[in-house]
Amino acid sequence: MICLGIESTAHTFGASVMKDKEILSNVKDSYTTKSGGIIPTEAAKHHEKVKYAVVERGLREAGIKLDDVELIAFSQAPGLAPCLLQGRDIARELASRLKVPVIPVNHCIAHLEIGRMLCKCRDPVLLYVSGANTQVIAYASGKYRIFGETLDIGAGNFIDTFARHTGLGFPGGPKIAELASKGKNLIELPYSVKGMDVAFSGILTNLKQKYNSKKYKLEDLAYSLQEYAFAMLIEVAERAMAHLGKKELLLGGGVACNKRFQEMCKIMCKERGARFFCPPASVLVDNAIMICWLGLLQKNQAISWKNLDKVDINPYERTDDVIVKWR
Ligand code: ATP
Ligand code: FE2
Repeated sequence: MICLGIESTAHTFGASVMKDKEILSNVKDSYTTKSGGIIPTEAAKHHEKVKYAVVERGLREAGIKLDDVELIAFSQAPGLAPCLLQGRDIARELASRLKVPVIPVNHCIAHLEIGRMLCKCRDPVLLYVSGANTQVIAYASGKYRIFGETLDIGAGNFIDTFARHTGLGFPGGPKIAELASKGKNLIELPYSVKGMDVAFSGILTNLKQKYNSKKYKLEDLAYSLQEYAFAMLIEVAERAMAHLGKKELLLGGGVACNKRFQEMCKIMCKERGARFFCPPASVLVDNAIMICWLGLLQKNQAISWKNLDKVDINPYERTDDVIVKWR
């Protein structure tokens, strides 16, 4: 079956085509800002402008015609409503034109399923660390459940905010990573694990104060930021693995591109006799392949083109709101 996947939860508008398990294309166009964060309505305007061109590019790269598409998947949740609406609208429009079914999918679950498929792991604990999301997710009793998460901001937003404060620009993740590799001194920071959850705003305030005091080298602050934040994330992921008796750790989200983070995860897995899996960077960050793949997995739940009014967004849907019928 040929599926067209559409991603539009936040800054990225992406399109991908898969034929069963074979990935035929993956293209995207992302909204960026010179300074400041993402403005939802501006990102949506970006998506509106580029969406037809991105879909066309996705089809062209896959070497197929629009008429060949048999199923359309789009990210329905979670995300910024104005952005999600752009994905929903084009999914509806194309489904009506082609008379094919539509399957709305959950972006967080898509990160887990694409990792499971590409890395060939069976039943992992997903440590999903992106800009907006920071969650520990695993399968239990018919649902993907959240075993731990951030109580305030996502780890990526935390890193990006500190980077912006120090004039490093956006996205800060890669810049902090580069500076951190030159840092040598571990500076004490608040370590904020609360049960199975983590919190970053206290460390962020502390880091900003330390930076403003001019008593510390930025390299050392970057190094310490990474050591503390990543240790917190790995602690809660490890606890979930221990409680659930799961033997696989899978990474997802843009922050998982960080090499030091990957190394620390590997060490934890080795120490507890678990296996570590990290998919390619192209699917760690927001992408449409994972939407396409989850759509194919959920194809039996697709909505007919005759009922397109039932196809909608669900910005606040949580991972554990979805009943997993495909595994
Ligand atoms: P989601 O909608 O899933 O929350 P997102 O829109 O926040 O995703 P992602 O692309 O998954 O976006 O992640 C973006 C984050 O990843 C940013 O905070 C960025 O700084 C960080 N990042 C990207 N590359 C790296 C890297 N090499 N090292 C560390 N952080 C990185
Ligand atoms: Fe994501």
